Amino acid sequence: MNPPVIAPSILSADFARLAEAAAAVEGAADWLHVDVMDNHFVPNLTIGLPVVQSLRRATTIPLDCHLMITDPRRWAVGYAEAGCEYVTFHAEACDDPVALARDLRAAGARAGLAVDRDTPVEPYLELLPHLDMLLVMTIKAGFGGQEFLPELLDKVRTARRRVEAGHLQVRIEVDGGINAETIEAAAEAGADAFVAGSAVYGAEDPAEAVRRLRARVRPQLRAGS
Ligand code: DX5
Ligand code: ZN
Repeated sequence: MNPPVIAPSILSADFARLAEAAAAVEGAADWLHVDVMDNHFVPNLTIGLPVVQSLRRATTIPLDCHLMITDPRRWAVGYAEAGCEYVTFHAEACDDPVALARDLRAAGARAGLAVDRDTPVEPYLELLPHLDMLLVMTIKAGFGGQEFLPELLDKVRTARRRVEAGHLQVRIEVDGGINAETIEAAAEAGADAFVAGSAVYGAEDPAEAVRRLRARVRPQLRAGS
């Protein structure tokens, strides 16, 4: 299993001060999770490509871009070209995830596929060899600050079994309601990337909040991994 990564979500930061939000977790966070919402795929609107391009120039932290948009085949490659390390699009919004993953990789990014709360993971397991990450929502996508839904960890367990059985280099990321109380259950289920919005940017010291989250998942590391 890969070492765990912690990805603070800027959805819970001050959108007028994104550079400061990035700086606040520099040196502590592995990735910065960037939630792009289009008010169509989800009933919320955040930022788009120009802001992501600016953010890319404002920080050296790898950007973990989570596209909650319709028609990702039209837009997602732009985020890869903008220099995002990971570009994740939703299974519910894409009829050919393998083709889009290929395009994202060709544009220099790693490709992630997200499954929302009500989407089963089973139909997508066979696509894992074509992906770099599977994002399992642990809430309904759209808003930060929602309560973690532990029953969705069954999808993480299922995916982890498939990743191990196939000796795949695919990360499994959880997103939604991750905090000091919930992160251990997610790690035990097999997640190795953890998005945290309100738990990081709602804290007085965001970098310290990241370090606390990491300390909670370190014991999950298996010897030799
Ligand atoms: C919601 C976003 C999440 C959100 C998580 O749809 O995808 O990344 O920022 O926020 P918390 O950690 O507060 O649930
Ligand atoms: Zn997200």
